[in-house]
Amino acid sequence: MPRGLRALPWFRPQSSSALRQRSSCVSKTPVVIHWPDGRLTEAFPGGDWLIAAREAGVVIPTGCLGGSCGACEIEVNGQVVRACMATVPGCKGGQLQVEMPGDPYW
Ligand code: FES
Repeated sequence: MPRGLRALPWFRPQSSSALRQRSSCVSKTPVVIHWPDGRLTEAFPGGDWLIAAREAGVVIPTGCLGGSCGACEIEVNGQVVRACMATVPGCKGGQLQVEMPGDPYW
């Protein structure tokens, strides 16, 4: 664990059972992600948005990485989520449209 990370008030290391539970949510059927620049990639439901974006070569701005600042907000099928906290959802059609909402305050 990087030095100083434990000092952050919102950071709580997860127990191994919590990590196991999170990984059990990952589906084996990938969804297709349509990124704002027209790129198409695949990711597994339950996966991390920031990793999916990085693999697609898309930069999602971040700030706190704890869900409180809103810098990482993206729109997924019209619903705003914070990419540092949310995971790639499963969906019926297997297609997710991602938009980056412009924030005049950032
Ligand atoms: S980086 Fe601050 S809410 Fe995601």
